Amino acid sequence: MSTVRATSFGAWADEYDAWRPTYPDAAVDWLVPPGDPRVAEVGAGTGKLTDRLVERGIRPDVVEPDGRMLQLIGERHPQLATHEADISGLPLPDRSVDAVLVADAWHWFAKDDAAPEVSRVLRPGGWLGCVWNVPVLQHDWQWQALRLDPALALPRDLDPLDRLGLSTGVAEQRAFRWTWSLTPQQWRGFVSTVSHVRLLPEDECQDALAETERLVTRACSAAGTAAVPLSHDALCVRWRPSA
Ligand SMILES: C[S@@+](CC[C@H](N)C(=O)[O-])C[C@H]1O[C@@H](n2cnc3c(N)ncnc32)[C@H](O)[C@@H]1O
Repeated sequence: MSTVRATSFGAWADEYDAWRPTYPDAAVDWLVPPGDPRVAEVGAGTGKLTDRLVERGIRPDVVEPDGRMLQLIGERHPQLATHEADISGLPLPDRSVDAVLVADAWHWFAKDDAAPEVSRVLRPGGWLGCVWNVPVLQHDWQWQALRLDPALALPRDLDPLDRLGLSTGVAEQRAFRWTWSLTPQQWRGFVSTVSHVRLLPEDECQDALAETERLVTRACSAAGTAAVPLSHDALCVRWRPSA
């Protein structure tokens, strides 16, 4: 994965926070260990998953390399320990957490750094929990609006270890479908935070976003509604390192 893309999100932290989706309760329930777990969240961005954890009474250690994004989490949740750091050097003691949680970010990490660090900080029996919000696109216009090519879509039935890019440990996965309803402006905002669109040259990016809004406006007109649905699968993987 390109480092430029991996670290590009902070430049538009406010928009990211405004337009990116959250994660459904069922997915969070599956990812969070039972009881009163000690949790670290890595690649936390502006706190989309952090918010869900705090609602459950969890006080995660929040790790995020981009200070602009981390600041938004600190403002919203001043009670949390926030760390401007990345997965290659987690600011946590050995065997200190029951889960390391990662939302829409594991694919950006160098796995040779990430897996040993996660293994180091996990308590015995603890797990890495990853979630990705993957759009479920049913119409050609939706693929066009997101500027995605159906031919390049990842297979849904990937083995969970392959999904993580790891060859050791034990992994299991679940998908939780949920649906969001967005106006043309919200679609535009969401697409503006997707790195393959945002990192286009400025004029191409603006053209792409105008096209997204036009496609969604047409779909709304056809449906006679102000907003149209966009389904996602919250794809979740839990991984335990080899003993
Ligand atoms: C697509 S965003 C996801 C943010 C947030 N978790 C969410 O669900 O909205 C990816 C995040 O991974 C972070 N990131 C990229 N490379 C990283 C690394 N090596 N270690 C930790 N975080 C990283 C980026 O700064 C960004 O905040």
